Amino acid sequence: MLSREENDLLTRVGPGTPAGEMLRRYWHPIAFINELKKRPLRRRLLGEDLVVFRDDRGRLGVLALRCSHRGTSLEFGHLEDGGLRCCYHGWLYDVGGKILEMPGEPADSTFWQRLRHPAYQVQELGGVIFAYLGPEPAPLLPRYDVLVRDDGVRARRARTVNCNFFQMIENSVDQNHLKWLHRTAKTPTWDDGEINPPLPGKDTRTLISSSCRQ
Ligand code: FES
Repeated sequence: MLSREENDLLTRVGPGTPAGEMLRRYWHPIAFINELKKRPLRRRLLGEDLVVFRDDRGRLGVLALRCSHRGTSLEFGHLEDGGLRCCYHGWLYDVGGKILEMPGEPADSTFWQRLRHPAYQVQELGGVIFAYLGPEPAPLLPRYDVLVRDDGVRARRARTVNCNFFQMIENSVDQNHLKWLHRTAKTPTWDDGEINPPLPGKDTRTLISSSCRQ
């Protein structure tokens, strides 16, 4: 059994945590391109609250969710004038976090030039939007075959699972839960020996399906 410290080490992924620093060396899927329909999207990735959007010139952006002015959520912002405009006082951000307009400031203010809103790299591949939250230089976004092949039909699905990533991996290697959690009327019981690792040369799927007792 993991100690609390070991569990935290593996599952805390916010900025500055060991696992978070490691995972920030990779691109992560954050949205589907067809979700971006004239409205920004609120997303949480590696413990950070973000807004994903496509501006009125077609550019993709991923910014920190809270406006640099008074912390309003930018998911309620307006996509106009080449950026994302905060709904509260109208500050306008471009996809790189640069402030394009700062209404309400004196005309000769240079504050807007000195401030930068947190922004992250973003790319689209095969209809999936990926964000990179780590240090420069970003690695190349892998050309996953399921995202670049054009000789089939591509289906994209996502779901929210209310647990941390380590619990998902732990569940995948926990083969003994199969015979209880996934039993059906047609597969009421499984033999322990049949669930254990397959014999050399045996296909796992064949072994499992042939081991279901009617
Ligand atoms: S809170 Fe966003 S512009 Fe004021």
